[in-house]
Amino acid sequence: MCGIIGILGASAPAAPRLVEALRRLEYRGYDSAGVATLENGAIERRRAAGKLANLETELGAHPLAGVSGIGHTRWATHGAPTTGNAHPHATDKVAIVHNGIIENFRSLREELIKAGHSFASETDSEVIAHLIDENLKSGQSHEQAAIAAVRRLDGAFGIAVLFAGEEDILIGARKGSPLAVGLGDGEMYLGSDAIAVSPFTTRVMFLEEGDIAVLSHAKVKVLDANGMLAERQVHTFAGGVAAVEKGNFRHFMQKEIYEQPETTGRTIMRYVNAFEERIEMPDLDGVDLGADSAIVIGCGTAHYAGRVAEYWLEQIAGLAVETDIASEFRYRKPAFGKKSFSVFVSQSGETADTLAALRYCKEQGLKTLAVVNVPESTIWREADARLPTLAGPEIGVASTKAFTAQLSALAALTIAVGRARGALSSQEEARLAHALMETPRLITDALKSEPEIEAIAQTLQHARDVLYLGRGASYPVALEGALKLKEISYIHAEGYAAGELKHGPIALIDEETPVVVVAPHDALFEKTLSNMQEVAARGGKVQHAEAFEICEYGRRPNKEELGKLFPFFGETK
Ligand code: M6R
Repeated sequence: MCGIIGILGASAPAAPRLVEALRRLEYRGYDSAGVATLENGAIERRRAAGKLANLETELGAHPLAGVSGIGHTRWATHGAPTTGNAHPHATDKVAIVHNGIIENFRSLREELIKAGHSFASETDSEVIAHLIDENLKSGQSHEQAAIAAVRRLDGAFGIAVLFAGEEDILIGARKGSPLAVGLGDGEMYLGSDAIAVSPFTTRVMFLEEGDIAVLSHAKVKVLDANGMLAERQVHTFAGGVAAVEKGNFRHFMQKEIYEQPETTGRTIMRYVNAFEERIEMPDLDGVDLGADSAIVIGCGTAHYAGRVAEYWLEQIAGLAVETDIASEFRYRKPAFGKKSFSVFVSQSGETADTLAALRYCKEQGLKTLAVVNVPESTIWREADARLPTLAGPEIGVASTKAFTAQLSALAALTIAVGRARGALSSQEEARLAHALMETPRLITDALKSEPEIEAIAQTLQHARDVLYLGRGASYPVALEGALKLKEISYIHAEGYAAGELKHGPIALIDEETPVVVVAPHDALFEKTLSNMQEVAARGGKVQHAEAFEICEYGRRPNKEELGKLFPFFGETK
């Protein structure tokens, strides 16, 4: 996750205003920062590795003139946090800032190198500047060049584009990463969130998925994902920061659900070297990933994330894994194998039972690894080593983005363990690393189902009990689904292993009992399908079956494909 700002200014110098906005975006990334302005029409940049203060020092030594510009605060994904990799990236005609992942950057980069472009950074982002530049060379207008480039990008992104010699155009695009447009008095702004533009205006428009915004001093033109002119509501924020932060969303939980393309992308890219398609772990201070066994501990959602990882670690890395709920584990005085390590999963890093379990493991001489979201929390500090999840602050009490960020870090850990144990070849590692990088785009795709999901929620609202079923790694996902329904709607819900249904719980099923099946199209799909038939035979209503299968579709299956996957139910609802 990175922070983006753009200013199409009137008279005030842009550089100090860009820095002011970046200060508000520092929570999104803080390992390097940069700005570019139009000085007499030419693109001029100042960039610095490290905190924003370093950029300010650089600007103090080498000031930038110009009233329009773009800025970026970075959390390194592709390429180390160096000045050379800091944004904006530029050619002499165009400068861009980017937040997100460009999945197809390698093929685009090769194509552009063949066309004579030379690259100055190790980032995926730089291809965007060169792609637009190439389009400009072929005679396209600035708007066309940017739109054509954006349409060629796979992945999840928010982008701002500044053109040399063009004082009246600034372009923004979003797909998976947020982007807001600020409407000022004879000025326009782009920002990763409304907070970024709040020093300049209280009038904000939030771009929707696939939107491209073409800003001039006088107006904002928005094109939707189909290239059609679109109207987006302008919000006026008179309230405090919280109102601004919530943006278009009804509540923080909804906002956090929609942050997942970003938060998973940010976490995954912390561990994936995109150039080499391999996993890079930080120093794990003696935690031996080549060990024979591991225990994975957490509470609630964090425990379910650990249980998903149990399947992955066993199947992909061949590691013997035990998972437990921290409140049980800490009192049962468990015994360990000699060559073992322990993993503690926690959003807050402060959950008392998880902390007590960690302390117990340390007393037993076991190395401890924390998968934690809040830096410097107690679990973070007391563990021997840590794998941060980069979900940012989770305000909603019901975990959403923390869960998927935990899964992201645990997936990277699984691949690293697989390599350490010799269970994965480098080709398999590359395939898995690549699949991980596709996650933000697939989540973006999945979020488009909100209207269908809302319609299903309407049918669930009067249910007394709801069952969630899944097999394999989808079983703990079903447990997590049931937990969410209980917590948020106060409807009784239970998650079951789909194969366990016939051993008792099937007695609960009648036509009043909605059943939610988590059924990815994997090796267990046919078995899950037969469990769905058992449910249908008892008159139960299977409410929804999702099939996100990266390997088979690389995207969400369409209705026709879903119909083929679930012939028994005709059209899945
Ligand atoms: O902060 P932690 O991840 O350690 O919290 C553990 C649980 O309390 C937490 O995951 C809880 O189950 C979820 N917030 C429920 O949505």
